[in-house]
Amino acid sequence: MGATVLVGGFFGDEGKGKIISYLALKDNPVAAVRGGVGPNAGHTVVVSGQEIKLRMLPSAVINHRTRLMLGAGVLIDPLVLADEVRRMDAADRVLIDRMCGIIEEAHRDRDRTGHLKSVVGTTGTGTGPANADRVLRSARVAKDLPDLSRYVGDVAGELNRILEDDGTVLVEGTQGTFLSLYHGAYPYVTSKDVTASAICSDVGIGPKRVDDVIVVFKAYVTRVGEGPLEGELRPDDAMQRGWQEVAVVTGRTRRAAPFNLALARRATILNSATQVALTKLDAIYPECKGKTIFEELAPEARGFIKSIEDHLGIPVTLIGTGPSAEELIDRRALLVQPE
Ligand code: IMP
Ligand code: MG
Repeated sequence: MGATVLVGGFFGDEGKGKIISYLALKDNPVAAVRGGVGPNAGHTVVVSGQEIKLRMLPSAVINHRTRLMLGAGVLIDPLVLADEVRRMDAADRVLIDRMCGIIEEAHRDRDRTGHLKSVVGTTGTGTGPANADRVLRSARVAKDLPDLSRYVGDVAGELNRILEDDGTVLVEGTQGTFLSLYHGAYPYVTSKDVTASAICSDVGIGPKRVDDVIVVFKAYVTRVGEGPLEGELRPDDAMQRGWQEVAVVTGRTRRAAPFNLALARRATILNSATQVALTKLDAIYPECKGKTIFEELAPEARGFIKSIEDHLGIPVTLIGTGPSAEELIDRRALLVQPE
């Protein structure tokens, strides 16, 4: 069995944390590994009525049997990591790659001034400047920090060993396809590629180790920071539709637009996605709230899903109907080929 890679299909904040939390509980992975940029991404996980916000640890943290890893391509903010490990009581199952880049105070300072703040509108978490220093080969990495020594190891080696033994591995992407340094609207992008190929490279698994790529879309599109957003709604319109959200990391209000089939199609291609996870269906069809059975959805909601499948050519297998991990329709059984 190969790994499952999960990536965002729009501009981040598609609800990856919600889908991962379900998969973590349902599929019981041996390991979950986070790729992507670093603590500029905020994931929200809701389980048993408790809301958990994460910026460093994999969202699969809610399954206490799953090992939690951070790939070599990921930047670590040691303060954010320490806080999450303590809050989640996860010290015994965290493994960070010895080559993870380190965010220092000077990186955060540089990220909060100049064009990064005024033009790009970054999260100010220091990730861009830290990646720049890494490219210049002047950054520190995890193995240089004595405080991290108890967590440091060989993530790529461990992951490939687990896959060799047929263990289930969940690879968690962060950000979203159109925030990619290469495939987004430069310069309104993050500091790395964040498509599925890049996420695999971050954690150290080759393309032939991947069985499934799940691209996550929200039922509407949001974006924080600057850059183009087709069909952007006026803030009062977004508010009226209940689509106005506040960003986890920065507290900024997210800009909103209706679902965009053309963007979704491009994201499907760029990530070679095999399945779609669709979140917040209940934000568009309130009567869907909490449903777990596809046949119980209203005909309009099923029609919306069918139009996505027809346009993208891949199945919508996971459908979020509320914030909690349990509020989800799982149609993956449809994919199982008869013996
Ligand atoms: P940076 O990644 O902090 O350098 O910010 C660059 C752009 O990406 C800004 O528009 C940020 O708002 C956006 N961005 C980075 N990470 C995320 C994320 O996880 N969710 C949403 N937007 C993000
Ligand atoms: Mg987020």
